[in-house]
Amino acid sequence: MASLGVNIDHIANVRQARRTVEPDPVPMALLAELGGADGITVHLREDRRHIQDRDVDLLRQTVRSRLNLEMAATEDMVLIALRVQPDMVTLVPERREEVTTEGGLDVSSQRVDLTSKINRLQDAGIPVSLFVDPERGQLEACRDCRARWVELHTGPYAEAKWTDQPSELARLTEATALARAMGLRVNAGHGLTYQNVEPVAAIEGMEELNIGHTIVARAVAVGLQQAVREMKALVQNPRRDPLFGSY
Ligand code: PXP
Repeated sequence: MASLGVNIDHIANVRQARRTVEPDPVPMALLAELGGADGITVHLREDRRHIQDRDVDLLRQTVRSRLNLEMAATEDMVLIALRVQPDMVTLVPERREEVTTEGGLDVSSQRVDLTSKINRLQDAGIPVSLFVDPERGQLEACRDCRARWVELHTGPYAEAKWTDQPSELARLTEATALARAMGLRVNAGHGLTYQNVEPVAAIEGMEELNIGHTIVARAVAVGLQQAVREMKALVQNPRRDPLFGSY
């Protein structure tokens, strides 16, 4: 049975839209764990557009499941990971102008650099996962770099027309089997939704799915009625006692 890693970046996205303190992804991670999350994933981007360094530090202290730090394979990020000691690092490609991670990491073209960064992280006790497209060449490169895990990019499956989805699913299924035969452990994620997740979750050998956008979107949907109800009660029936200046 696959486990669930919940990506909480979008909670920080809402906070950063106002550069304020709410919603705070740190307590939200605890709620995700109460809901059954087996792990919490955050992507500390180089431009800090959503998750902040402070979030990662606090999450390290509070997450009781597993903290997966998604990050670009840069020297600055490696130093942060070595200091924070997450339970796993997932290396992803990063371009400043992208809305979200767009493709898998091209591991084959940067084997030497990746191998040295992976060694430093894994020697410090942090297993490394590489986010890659479900392709044989990339998986072989992941094995050669001695990464312990791969995260298969499910974006093309999620975005495929329904007629193409079976072949995209077959690519993920074959890549999972191939990776495991090479001794790699397998996660997957990106673009998974309540509608398309089940066939991927059922892939033999799939260990964890990392899912963010659709869960935060659903949380807004199922929580909005209650949030409006609470605000309306305050607006219609305000307390008359002064809340400020009474100390
Ligand atoms: N896995 C990786 C490597 C990602 O970059 C993301 C998006 O940040 C996810 C999983 C989660 O994707 P989504 O938000 O579409 O569920």
